[in-house]
Amino acid sequence: MLSLQEIEKIYFTEENAVEAVTDISLSVEDGEFVSFIGPSGCGKTTVLSIIAGLIPPTSGRILMNGTEISGFSKETGYMLQEDYLFPWLTIRKNIELGLIITGMHNEDTVEKTMSLLAQLGLGDKADAFPSELSGGMRQRAALVRMLAPEPSLLLLDEPFSALDYQTKLKLEDLVSHTLNSQQKTAILVTHDLSEAIAMSDRIFLFSTNPGSIYNVYQVPETFRRMLPLEARNHPEFHPFFQRIWKELENVENQHPNTP
Ligand SMILES: Nc1ncnc2c1ncn2[C@@H]1O[C@H](COP(=O)(O)OP(=O)(O)OP(=O)(O)O)[C@@H](O)[C@H]1O
Ligand SMILES: [Mg+2]
Repeated sequence: MLSLQEIEKIYFTEENAVEAVTDISLSVEDGEFVSFIGPSGCGKTTVLSIIAGLIPPTSGRILMNGTEISGFSKETGYMLQEDYLFPWLTIRKNIELGLIITGMHNEDTVEKTMSLLAQLGLGDKADAFPSELSGGMRQRAALVRMLAPEPSLLLLDEPFSALDYQTKLKLEDLVSHTLNSQQKTAILVTHDLSEAIAMSDRIFLFSTNPGSIYNVYQVPETFRRMLPLEARNHPEFHPFFQRIWKELENVENQHPNTP
């Protein structure tokens, strides 16, 4: 569904040029859930922003369903760590804005979206303002807003990192279930290796200076299709975690300048 070919990004500042990522080639299958992990500064957000069309690559190509794309695509939904709901709009208005921007605002899509909001336990919060919701509720509202225009590719940049552990585990299950039932394709960026393992079909480990793909792991068949909380309790989860953890440490030790 999505294919990146030899993506390179150099950031030019007034004083110098930073090669953020180089030679990123990867494909994501239709309906697949993949994660990007790696040390701080290895270019995960950069690659996600390039896929979202927020910034252009310096070189390389992005294909979606076989067609080269550049810039923003209606097929793509993006959700950042800060949920970026507009504070002056109610939850309902925030969500409807996503539909209006993408030209998909009609009775049918509004009704579907409000029913998803109710499914995610926010049926009575539609007319509340973001400041009246908890962090986890805002993340769920942001999720509904992202899904409202029915994008087929979802990009999630550390969507759970601001949440407490309990809420995060619950949201992982909820997101996993929602995306699976709608057969979405998704890319998750996370600092949390166990989250990446619990949620993904495949994991891309990045190394840094400049950012590139260091290794790719297929999550074991035995727990791949389980909900994250169940997967975390599977006996094969921990050995798999240990294996990637070691390589993550190798990558970080190669570049001791990163925190
Ligand atoms: N707008 C920018 N201008 C210049 N350099 C940038 C810019 N954005 C990112 N960089 C540099 O590009 C590299 C990759 O940054 P990026 O934000 O993609 O990393 P990341 O893997 O998402 O890190 P983190 O895990 O900390 O979020 C870093 O060296 C960073 O300093
Ligand atoms: Mg980042």
